[in-house]
Amino acid sequence: MPLARPDIREEDMELVMDVLRSGMLVQGAYVDKLEKAFQEFHGVKHAVALSNGTATLHLALHVLGIGPGDEVIVPALSYVATANVVELVGATCVFVDVDERTFNIDVTQVEKAITPRTKAIIPVHEFGLACDIETLCSIAAQHNLPVVEDAACALGARQNGKLAGTFGLMGSFSLHPRKSITAGEGGILLTDDDDLARKLRQLRNHGIEMENGQMNFVTAGFNYRMTDFQAALAWSQFSRLEQTLEYKAKLGDLYLGTITNPDVLLPVVPQAHNHTWQTFHLLLQTGLDQQKTIEHLKAKGIGSNYGAQCIPAQTYYQKKYNLDARHEFPNAYRAYTKGMAIPLYERLTKDEILHIAQIINHL
Ligand SMILES: Cc1ncc(COP(=O)(O)O)c(C=O)c1O
Repeated sequence: MPLARPDIREEDMELVMDVLRSGMLVQGAYVDKLEKAFQEFHGVKHAVALSNGTATLHLALHVLGIGPGDEVIVPALSYVATANVVELVGATCVFVDVDERTFNIDVTQVEKAITPRTKAIIPVHEFGLACDIETLCSIAAQHNLPVVEDAACALGARQNGKLAGTFGLMGSFSLHPRKSITAGEGGILLTDDDDLARKLRQLRNHGIEMENGQMNFVTAGFNYRMTDFQAALAWSQFSRLEQTLEYKAKLGDLYLGTITNPDVLLPVVPQAHNHTWQTFHLLLQTGLDQQKTIEHLKAKGIGSNYGAQCIPAQTYYQKKYNLDARHEFPNAYRAYTKGMAIPLYERLTKDEILHIAQIINHL
């Protein structure tokens, strides 16, 4: 059993083949359909399809005009892309530690990270669980700061019924194969702001604005377009999203009810939240070594890995910012060095989950 495996069905492949047969490969009807599906599901005004989740975050910062001399607050635990985009626009990362049990940004530490140079906050909904985005947005509002939600892993996650990706000025999703639905590579950026949406559409396509049927290059843009066959693949899976999330919720509950090893801390799901289980993330207690446990599971045919990077502990960030991650961001560091992602995805059966749980119980 690999750690992750996308659920690609015959009907998904058929749609991809339709696009390939049509010869219209880039930015066509399925990109429009996928954008509409995201827009309607989230109840927002605009969903802009882009080439991947890193491109969505990069474009979000670019369109806000964030650059050298500006600071952006990011959690210390995430996939490194969350911080890389800050570096790519020439701004400075300000890291905030995560909560030790939810692995999401510790909102009680955000206020003290804000300075006159802060220009945005990128909270991450880590592992498929929405962070305390309500509190975070109210702090951001008091300081008049835009929030760009990194909901790469959290399609369908909610706080008090409201979907992740719809709280901030923009909400970013990834369609990488480890997510609930995939385009292979792909990203979606949500916003209610008409002006931002118009600029994002220009910027993803070399800065083109159509005027009276003529192409006009009104800004220096990127090529961050999505191909239509990728959009077809994701759109086809989108139609099963509710079932996928329901089934994954059952598998998550099964793990929660059957893993009883006292040396393993189970993930928590705070009240008013649902977990979409992009990653089922265990925290090993002192007696268990992360690498040895990963090797042990591998020998039993089960894929696992650490869950996310402690970004300040990565060479580039550690050197550039002269950080001592272990002491400055202890919760992120612990999750990075003692955390473990174990398989949970649509194609796993309940018996397979029980089998994995038994192995974890006998570590
Ligand atoms: C939290 C987070 N942000 C951003 C990204 C980047 O998305 P992509 O791989 O689609 O570029 C990922 C990818 O896994 C992620 O997990």
